[in-house]
Amino acid sequence: MQLLDGKYVSEQVKVQIAEEASQFLAESGRKPHLVAILVGNDGGSETYVASKMKNCEKVGFKSSLYRYDNSVTEAELLEKVREINADADVDGLIVQLPLPKHIDPEKVTEAIDPKKDVDGFHPINLGRMMRNLPCYIPATPYGILLMLQAYNIDTTGMHCVVVGRSNIVGGPMSVLMARNANPGNCTVTLTHSKTKDLKEQVLQGDIIIAAIGKKNFITADMVKTGAIVIDVGINRETSTETKSGFKLYGDVDFENVAPKSSFITPVPGGVGLMTIVGLLKNTLASARKEIY
Ligand code: GUN
Repeated sequence: MQLLDGKYVSEQVKVQIAEEASQFLAESGRKPHLVAILVGNDGGSETYVASKMKNCEKVGFKSSLYRYDNSVTEAELLEKVREINADADVDGLIVQLPLPKHIDPEKVTEAIDPKKDVDGFHPINLGRMMRNLPCYIPATPYGILLMLQAYNIDTTGMHCVVVGRSNIVGGPMSVLMARNANPGNCTVTLTHSKTKDLKEQVLQGDIIIAAIGKKNFITADMVKTGAIVIDVGINRETSTETKSGFKLYGDVDFENVAPKSSFITPVPGGVGLMTIVGLLKNTLASARKEIY
């Protein structure tokens, strides 16, 4: 078993991004600029957004955060999105999800200029991804592709089983792994909460991508010996053992699955760190006008 070390790989890629950001600054006189909008005070969202902002500073990007109370109206939020769309100094705009119930996330996502949609959630970017055209790939799937690349894992011809069909991870991941690309060229099974015989399906996987949001959901009896296991789960539980007051668990029962796998990502220290790298790479690509 070999660990897919998100800490090591993300640090390496960030060094490269920082060099490229510095080159961009020398050429253009400005830094790549990411703007985040955060509504409310969900603990998970707070942590993720703080980490995104901190990492921007680390690689020499400019970052701005706009915070709103849960009481913000949809109209106010859409107005802010339009204002940021029109600001030539901004390269990337993300609106952290989930949003409060009275705000339609689809409306907000579609209001973001696709050219600044560094989360890759806009239908234009998702449509371009389906057609293998230049686009922003959603940050977590992009981070997983970068991780597979970093370890020179050739996925051609493999059977990839994705568990979970979210718009953010499972859906796009299934498309990416089936594309004519490397990583890619897999036969893909996309499983979800209504899948019959889930265990039998997951057992077919040469690569298993677990993105269901349930602690230790993938157990050793569901995993073929030698499988590559990618754990996207970030399940937070309160804990007295840590300084932060909570502990993170993956979707995979790491302790029992790891000995059966050929490669596996830990939680924390795996996919989560690569997600940030995916977002930073998209922001740099936007600043350099590489996609549009
Ligand atoms: N909520 C959970 N993951 C994400 C993400 O990658 N981007 C945004 N905007 N919200 C999220």
